[in-house]
Amino acid sequence: MKIHTSPFPDYYNKEFFKDKTVVTVDIFRATTTILHLFSMGINQVILLDNEKKAEKVEYNNLLKIGERFGEKLKLFDFNNSATLLLKDRKKVEKHEKAVMFTTNGTKAALKSSEAKINFVGAFNNISSIIEKILKYKKETELIINLAGDKGEISLEDTIFGGNLIYELLKNMVEFELSDYSLISLKIYESYLKNNKLIKSARHYNRLIELGFKDDIELALKKDLFGFTPIIKKNKILSDDGE
Ligand code: MLT
Repeated sequence: MKIHTSPFPDYYNKEFFKDKTVVTVDIFRATTTILHLFSMGINQVILLDNEKKAEKVEYNNLLKIGERFGEKLKLFDFNNSATLLLKDRKKVEKHEKAVMFTTNGTKAALKSSEAKINFVGAFNNISSIIEKILKYKKETELIINLAGDKGEISLEDTIFGGNLIYELLKNMVEFELSDYSLISLKIYESYLKNNKLIKSARHYNRLIELGFKDDIELALKKDLFGFTPIIKKNKILSDDGE
């Protein structure tokens, strides 16, 4: 299997994702939040490429999740925060669908929307992701699609990518890693020796400043869930039937 890692959405063009197996990741916090939305009964998340689209009449009764640079946007019900959603879960549970706009995560998901199969990944469902990829491994190349941070590399997403590669390689005899896949693996190996490394990440510190330490702790927990929602065009759907 050939494993590519895209460190931020503009690294590869849209065409490159076409017909490949993809895992889209934004550890702090979009893909973590999406998993929690599904765990609270949401069965579809519509991805917005522009925050203004939240005003569309057809989205009136949908749950609206949106942030820019970590702060909640006016047109939305909630910040992109799994812990805030959990605190107000009765409100979340009244909905079946949500719309979402975030600084990096929704951008990465939309960039890869023409993949053959595109899994929403986070530490919260990492084993489930590994199991699904191994099922698809003979068919296509894999792209680990990291959201990064405002067009740049982010350490937390890179550590996740490295963790995924580390586990996949235990189950593969033949593989080929792109340079950024190899870099991610090496960074994950350093993180295994010293997990305080993540405290140097820029978005980690920004979220601490904004008071979202609980979101960070939740995002770093492994395997809270055994499901893997999938991205199809501009929607995220449950993985039932995959
Ligand atoms: C994003 O998509 O940029 C992030 O999830 C930002 C955040 O809400 O922390």
